[in-house]
Amino acid sequence: MADASSPPRAFNNCTACHAAEAGQYGVGPHLAGIVGRTAGGVEGANYSAALASSGIVWDEDTLVRYLVNPNAVVPGGSMPATGLDEAEARGVVDYLNTL
Ligand code: HEC
Repeated sequence: MADASSPPRAFNNCTACHAAEAGQYGVGPHLAGIVGRTAGGVEGANYSAALASSGIVWDEDTLVRYLVNPNAVVPGGSMPATGLDEAEARGVVDYLNTL
């Protein structure tokens, strides 16, 4: 079995734009501590108005839905589709939970 904190393969679809460590900036905000945080909470990240004003709190189910279809959860947001199916998104969210 894989180490609980090692990223699943599907996380490769994220790393072009997101870092897993706090304090690192890519095209998107870092993802450390994302589970349970309010959307748009990373200081200095370049968020769309749609996401920043969404009021979403990132619980696991909302994250899975967002990763499968960003535009369905944050209409007008700036994250493009990730290409993940629901099972892959679950695996990624399980990993995000360890960050
Ligand atoms: C092409 C670049 C890109 C890819 C690939 C990408 N994202 Fe994003 N992501 C963004 C951008 C840009 C935002 C900010 C969206 C906005 O402000 O509307 C974002 C926002 C997010 C947020 C909300 C963060 C917050 O602080 O509210 C999460 C969670 C997230 N992405 C997770 C992922 C995961 C997990 C993957 C891989 C499955 C992924 N993203 C793939 C660019 C990307």
